[in-house]
Amino acid sequence: MTQADRKRWLFGLATCVFLFFTTSIAASPTQTDPDIVMRESMVIMARQLGVTCTHCHDPKNFKSATMKTHQKAKEHMRVTAWLNSQNGLAGKPHIDCYTCHRGEPSPKPEKPTPKK
Ligand code: HEC
Ligand code: HEC
Repeated sequence: MTQADRKRWLFGLATCVFLFFTTSIAASPTQTDPDIVMRESMVIMARQLGVTCTHCHDPKNFKSATMKTHQKAKEHMRVTAWLNSQNGLAGKPHIDCYTCHRGEPSPKPEKPTPKK
């Protein structure tokens, strides 16, 4: 390898490293692949309920909607979206599962009994 070859090789390597970082940084904040968006929203939802994926999904078939918790979750996703769409709230403050669940899979809907 001559001095000039070595320089060209190093320049090529530096370009690759530069391109790798700039493209990966540019790609991360605006993820639009619907499968990845779905997965990311699932991770958030699971965290807000303090559960893992198998609380609502049959690990042998993620597309199955037979679990009671899956059906309930779908209803509650609708409720959450509806709440966010109402005038007077209109997404501010933003309602999500954590608003009611507080990290619990099944929050108590009743008022606490007052202590005497
Ligand atoms: C609280 C219940 C719940 C939890 C926990 C949950 N999911 Fe889901 N998941 C659902 C529901 C409900 C749907 C269907 C959404 C719809 O039909 O709009 C769904 C849909 C999906 C889909 C799309 C399936 C399809 O039919 O294309 C994937 C993939 C998925 N979830 C992955 C995950 C992963 C991975 C986790 C764990 C990080 C997870 N889910 C945790 C309730 C849950
Ligand atoms: C307005 C309040 C509220 C919001 C918002 C809400 N939930 Fe719920 N959820 C409850 C209450 C209260 C319960 C317990 C009573 C019941 O099971 O009906 C519950 C129960 C559930 C259950 C059944 C738990 C079990 O073990 O049977 C699932 C699953 C669930 N919620 C998923 C979700 C998901 C996912 C979201 C966000 C997309 C969400 N909820 C948003 C109030 C809420």
